[in-house]
This record gives sequence, structure tokens and C-alpha cells, in this order.
Amino acid sequence: MGEPALTNIPLSKIALDKQLRVARAALYPKEVVWVVAGLIAVVSLFHLLDLFYIFLTRPAKRGAISLRRIPLAVADVTRSFAFRWTISFGLSYTLNLAEVALTVAYISLLFVFALVNTTSTTGIKFEPHYFGNRAGAIAASQVPIIVALGTRNNIISWITGISYTKLSYVHRMMARVLCVMVWLHALGKIKSGTPLTLPLVRVGLISLSSLVLLCIVSIRPVRERAYQFFFIVHCVLALMFLIAAYFHLKDIQMAYYGILPAMILWGLDRFMHFARIVIFNFGYFKPTPLTSGDFDASVDVLSPQFIRITLHRPNHFRWVAGQCAYLSFPGVSSLPFEAHPFTISTTYNPDPSPSGNKLIFYARVRDGFTRKLRDRAAEGEKFRVFLDGPYDSPPALIGYSTSILIAGGSGIAFTLPLLIDLIGQARRGETTCRRVVFVWSIRESENMQWIRDSLSQCLHGLAPGLSVDVQLYITGKHIEELYPVDSIGEKIKFSGSYSDVLSVPGVSVGTGRPDLEALLGKEIQEASGPVSVNVCGGRSLAQAATKAVRYPRPMDILRGGNTVSFFADGSF
Ligand SMILES: Cc1cc2nc3c(=O)[nH]c(=O)nc-3n(C[C@H](O)[C@H](O)[C@H](O)COP(=O)(O)OP(=O)(O)OC[C@H]3O[C@@H](n4cnc5c(N)ncnc54)[C@H](O)[C@@H]3O)c2cc1C
Ligand SMILES: NC(=O)c1ccc[n+]([C@@H]2O[C@H](COP(=O)([O-])OP(=O)(O)OC[C@H]3O[C@@H](n4cnc5c(N)ncnc54)[C@H](OP(=O)(O)O)[C@@H]3O)[C@@H](O)[C@H]2O)c1
Repeated sequence: MGEPALTNIPLSKIALDKQLRVARAALYPKEVVWVVAGLIAVVSLFHLLDLFYIFLTRPAKRGAISLRRIPLAVADVTRSFAFRWTISFGLSYTLNLAEVALTVAYISLLFVFALVNTTSTTGIKFEPHYFGNRAGAIAASQVPIIVALGTRNNIISWITGISYTKLSYVHRMMARVLCVMVWLHALGKIKSGTPLTLPLVRVGLISLSSLVLLCIVSIRPVRERAYQFFFIVHCVLALMFLIAAYFHLKDIQMAYYGILPAMILWGLDRFMHFARIVIFNFGYFKPTPLTSGDFDASVDVLSPQFIRITLHRPNHFRWVAGQCAYLSFPGVSSLPFEAHPFTISTTYNPDPSPSGNKLIFYARVRDGFTRKLRDRAAEGEKFRVFLDGPYDSPPALIGYSTSILIAGGSGIAFTLPLLIDLIGQARRGETTCRRVVFVWSIRESENMQWIRDSLSQCLHGLAPGLSVDVQLYITGKHIEELYPVDSIGEKIKFSGSYSDVLSVPGVSVGTGRPDLEALLGKEIQEASGPVSVNVCGGRSLAQAATKAVRYPRPMDILRGGNTVSFFADGSF
């Protein structure tokens, strides 16, 4: 923490006080921004190193300890402790140690910078004139970063390689700390006798009230139970907060400081959103009316719990396996601009023929929009749909010798395109991957049929040298439906494998949950090089997989054992 340069002219204690606190209130927020920017730079650097490290990792045979593998062992220990050890808060809230450390570090950073050197020249500790304005300036300096972290077109996600759904935790955490900082600012101003009747103070109070409400409506139970309510109220309150903060800071020539950059970032995100909507849905915006429903989506009800949405791939729409898109069905949603994210389950195919031109989404029927869509689809309607995307930074499965893809229920939407992409890369000779293990847990046996065609196609004529092990697990009560029925209509006790049910060679079907600990332990032990484990399918599955790869293996890695990269989707 630096000290500001002060004038050499001898000053009274009061004048010196003012000069000190004004100078520190100008300097410290900049230093906070530098620390945060430095942290983002370090994370981005690690992201780059991670990409290179995978390329530099040469497969090794287990043997004597090699000191050259110390960086790999250190990386393994760090990743295991930072991302795979978790702390639970309440019944359903879990943070990994990296998130806990980040939260503690961020709170400490802001409070230390707001409260150090706040003793006045007359010896009053925590003098409100000192910390009041400084806390406000520190809060303002954080707003652009918080806005950037909350947008879909997320610049911090691009440079750090961290999925924007994972960054949304950081967005919320920083916004909550910001709220406390603004309270500290208000407390300082009240204690130092600022009259509440000043217009500047009134807009400040509007800004603070919006922020407090924003933090309240953003708690997890509200987001989970009433997502659209949360989304709309969040947008309105965020705008109120920004506008009121702008007028609060404008009078003291500080709007440029935090609020204007934040507004520009938010405006850019909205602009990119609308530009994508217009570009990728141009068919709907043409002056001549549409003659056919070419751009409309068809929705198939696969089971009462699942639907498949198929739409035409717009020209210029490209994506990488595992990315998602937001879909708006104005004729189905109750609210305008309601959009829901779904993972694109097909892989990009430049072929302009109808078969290469499809975007397919598998959606689990929940209680809101998806339920309405299922009910309308059952009536055989086609739907006008607006596509916005692609979004998110899925893990790049490059440089691994074994990739393990684990899905539960609708999580298949994420792992299926990764499987198809890996097999395609192997055919084109573009991957080092030698083994893919694909695990899918599903409750209803009949849902296995959805991926039958995709599996038959991609497993047919595998590239030489690539082994693909597809394991499907049925965990629900519909299992008995698989049993053949005998002549008198009774279920025959099933014995053997369920492969016949799917009729795809190379696919094994079992019952009950997969034993992830045993499966991952065996694959990591037997892999011929770095291993990538990717999980999507709800909290319980993600926790089970995390537990299976939690323990660091420094000695094994020093002896030539394989390193493991782990990714679990944002719902964890
Ligand atoms: C990046 C990403 C990719 C996803 N991919 C898929 C997929 O391929 N298949 C699939 O079945 N599901 C996927 N989901 C989840 C899917 O978006 C929600 O299940 C869907 O929006 C629920 O709509 P609903 O109105 O029926 O839900 P509700 O019954 O109202 O809510 C069910 C749950 O969905 C959440 N939710 C509701 N609306 C949204 C929204 N607009 N954005 C984010 N979360 C929301 C709620 O918080 C709640 O936890 C994905 C989510 C994300 C964030
Ligand atoms: N890209 C993305 O981010 C993306 C894409 C699609 C889906 N998703 C998310 O994925 C989740 C999927 O939910 P869903 O409702 O579709 O799934 P679901 O119907 O709840 O099915 C989950 C399956 O996983 C099994 N499972 C649960 N815990 C397990 C464990 N510890 N070990 C082994 N198997 C286990 C379940 O078995 P039991 O029957 O024994 O419980 C069940 O078969 C949602 O949270 C959704 O948001 C995210």
C-alpha cells in the first residue's frame, strides 16, 4: 500500500487531515483495482500455462522418482486442494477451497484498504471522514469488474478460460462485499455529519437501497424457485443502482471512475446480445414475410421428463462442443425476452446440407417454461424461436490420452457433443486421445433410445488406436420395463447385459449408480498419459466424481503416474 505525495507547505492539523484523507481516498481504490487486475492476470497466466503444460507433458512409464516431474506434482497438489476439496454451508451450498480463499482474500483486501491509515492527525482512530469517502471510492472502483463478471459476453471468462457460469459465484460474492462497502461509506458520511437532505445523499440512498434489494433477490432460494422473477428484478434494480450511483458521483466529478465504465460494459453486452439475435435470426426480420416455417423449431416429447428441440443452424453460427445457446420461444414464454440456456448437443458441421444444418438440444422438463413447451409440443405445434449464442468456455479436450465423460440425466447434452467431437478428431488424426470412457446415469430406461442414433453413427468405424467404452446406467424404477415378457404376460427375471436393449455394439448397460471411485481409479491408473475428467449432471453426481479425484498423488506423479484435469459443471 503506497502513501500519496503531499504538499510541502506547512498546514494546520485540520487542513493536513483533509489533504491526507483526500489523497488516500484517491490512491487506495486505484491500488485495489491493480490488485484485482493482477489477480485476473495471474489466473489468465495459469490458464495459458495449463494449456502449454498439457502439451509439454510427455507420457511416462511408472518407475523411479523423477525430479523433472516436480512441477507436475506441485500442480496436482494445488489443483486437488484448491478445486476438489469443498466446504459445505447448510444443506445444499458448497464452495471449493479456491472459492473460499478468494472470498476471504477479497473481503480482506477491500476492508484493509478502506480502514488502514484512518487515524486522524489528532489521534482519533477510524475517523469517519477518512474511511467514509474512501469506502465509497473503493466500492465505485469495483462496479465495472462486477458488471463484467455478470455478463454473458464475459471478457474475464475469455481471458481466464473459466466458464461464465462458474464466474457467476465471483460476481455475486463481489456484489455482496460491494454492498457492505457502500454501507461503510454511508456510515462514515452519517457519522461525519453529512445532512441527509442533500440531493447527492438522496440519490446515494436510492443507489444503496437498490443494491441491498439486489443482494436479497439474488439469494439461491429465489434464483432456484423463481428464476424469471429474479432475472427481471435483478435487471431493473441493477439499472436503478447504476443510474442513481451515476448521479451520486456526477456531482463530485467521479462518475467516470466506476459507473461509466460499468455502463459501457453492460451496454456492450446488450449490444452484442441484440446483434446476435438479429444476425442469427435474420429470417424473422426480413421485410418479406416468411413462406415456410424453415426457421421454426420442432420439439419432440421424448418422455414426460425430457424434450428434444431441433432447429435450423443459421448461416455463420459456429460453436465448439459443449457450448450452450439461449433459446426464446415468444409464443410459449409468459414474459417477453425470457430466454433459457441449453447445451447444443450436436457438433459444428460446415456441411450446408439439411443433415449438417441442425442444432439439437435435450431439455429436462422442469416446472416453468420447459413444462409449458412440453405441453404445447404434445399438440404437434412448430415454434418460432430466437437463438442467442454460442456461450460458455467448455473444457478443451486437447492433449489428453484418456478423456472420461460422465453425465447424469440431461447432463448428456453436454457430454454427448464432447464424445462425438473427440471421435471425429480421432478420425481426422487431430487428437492425442487414445481412450474415451463415456458414462451416463439415467433414471428412465426408455430415455437411452434418444442417443441411440448418435451413438451408432459415432461408434461406427472408429479410428484405429482409439478405444471407446460407453457405459450406461439405469437408476430409476422403470428398469423392470426392460424385462422381456413371457407368454402369460409375466416379467421374466432379467439375467445378463442390457446391450440388446440399445442394440449398439460396444455399449454396456447396467443398473444402479456407477461406482465412480472404482471407475476413475482404474482409468487413471491404466491411462497412457494425462487424463481429463468431465462431469455434468447435478450436484450429487458432481460431488461423487469430485470425491473420487480429491486426493493429490504427488509421489505417483513423480514416479511417472498420470496427471488428472477435472471439470464439473456449474450446478455444483
Ligand atoms: C450453461 C447452462 C446450460 C444448460 N444446458 C441444459 C441442457 O442442455 N439441458 C437441460 O435440460 N438443462 C440445461 N440447463 C438448465 C436449464 O437452463 C434449466 O433447466 C431451464 O432453464 C429451466 O427452465 P424452467 O422455466 O422450466 O425452470 P424452473 O422450473 O422455473 O426452474 C428450474 C431450475 O432452472 C433454473 N433456471 C430457470 N430458468 C433459467 C434460466 N433462464 N437460466 C438459468 N437457469 C434457469 C432455476 O434457477 C431452477 O434451478 C442449462 C443451464 C445452464 C446455466
Ligand atoms: N452445460 C450444462 O451446464 C448443463 C447441461 C445439461 C444439464 N445440466 C445440469 O445437469 C443436471 C441434470 O439434472 P437432471 O434432472 O436432468 O438429472 P436427473 O434426472 O436428476 O438424473 C441424474 C442421474 O445421475 C444419477 N446420480 C446422481 N447422483 C449420483 C452419484 N453420486 N453417482 C452416480 N450417479 C448419480 C442419478 O441416479 P439416482 O436415480 O440414483 O439419483 C440419475 O440417474 C441439472 O442440474 C442441469 O442443470 C447442465
